[in-house]
Amino acid sequence: MYGKDLHKAATFLIQNDAIAMPTETVYGLAANAYNTDAVKTIFTIKKRPLTSPLIVHTSSLSKARSFVKEIPPKAMQLADAFWPGPLTLLLEKKRIIPDLVTAGLPTVGVRVPNHPLTRALLEALPFPLAAPSANPFGYISPTTAQHVEEQLGSKIPYILDGGPCQVGLESTIIGFQQGNPVIYRFGSITQEEIEKVVGTVSYLQPNEKEKGAHLAPGRTKQHYAPHTPILVGDLHKLWTQHQGKRIVALCFDHPLAHILPSDQIVLSPKKSLKEAARHLFAALHQLDKKGADLIIAPLFPNKGLGYVINERLKRASSRNI
Ligand code: TXA
Ligand code: MG
Repeated sequence: MYGKDLHKAATFLIQNDAIAMPTETVYGLAANAYNTDAVKTIFTIKKRPLTSPLIVHTSSLSKARSFVKEIPPKAMQLADAFWPGPLTLLLEKKRIIPDLVTAGLPTVGVRVPNHPLTRALLEALPFPLAAPSANPFGYISPTTAQHVEEQLGSKIPYILDGGPCQVGLESTIIGFQQGNPVIYRFGSITQEEIEKVVGTVSYLQPNEKEKGAHLAPGRTKQHYAPHTPILVGDLHKLWTQHQGKRIVALCFDHPLAHILPSDQIVLSPKKSLKEAARHLFAALHQLDKKGADLIIAPLFPNKGLGYVINERLKRASSRNI
């Protein structure tokens, strides 16, 4: 069931049920972050491994202080610059956050989302909300209430419908090493935007992370993937190499001449990376429903948001390029 009833959403959450909620990035599967049973429900519904930590959503930096120990000066600067917004900060947690939320890690991912319905919900509740993206583990993130309904509708009592997500890519995750920011996940706030606020930041390389056990499931190879195989690269070449297959295409600003209009989606005719990011996951959902043999997708100009889109597409693709 979905709707815009904040009272209903809050009632389910107070009962420790998990519901879906909109954010500006993607829809989240939310539950009381202070309650272990409520948090367990999230893992069960998503079929998510318990080793994969959740982001905790709250309505302000001052509220976050009730569940994190200390906010390093550079985290404060980033919070001031980007909250409410698509930025997650990894901060040392207080005991009130159950270990289940952080998969046993000493830090908790904290985010103040920028969506009016969800902000109102968070302001009304006496607890923050743990919420991963509201998709079955490994599938494409949902950017509409309908995506959630299709994937998890039978498992949750309510989907708070906030319309299509305006940003469309998950938040950027930043952790701190000796007070210095480190990128854990590329997301809709670009590295360039982060660096304008706090100076040069590095990216935590996969090999360092793998040693750190369950730090980054978002980085496993098959993630965000549609059911239909997807290949990423030069569209014309891919089309030529795979003739004979039923191909559907994701395009940036113009369609491919040799494919039926109904078998392709142009993300942004005006060539805006922001618009392309907003439509990316919805387009993948739509193409995945066409029952094709193959989805082909282009590489985007490889900087700023284009870099982040490429990173998501490569992760979704059946063969890394
Ligand atoms: O935009 C978003 O971030 C969305 C919306 C709903 O807020 N949420 C989201 O959650 O993308 P999820 O669970 O799909 O991805 C969260 C990522 C996971 O890869 C997880 O490993 C990482 O955040 N993460 C969470 N807490 C962490 C921690 N303490 N240390 C390292 N990584 C963490
Ligand atoms: Mg996710």
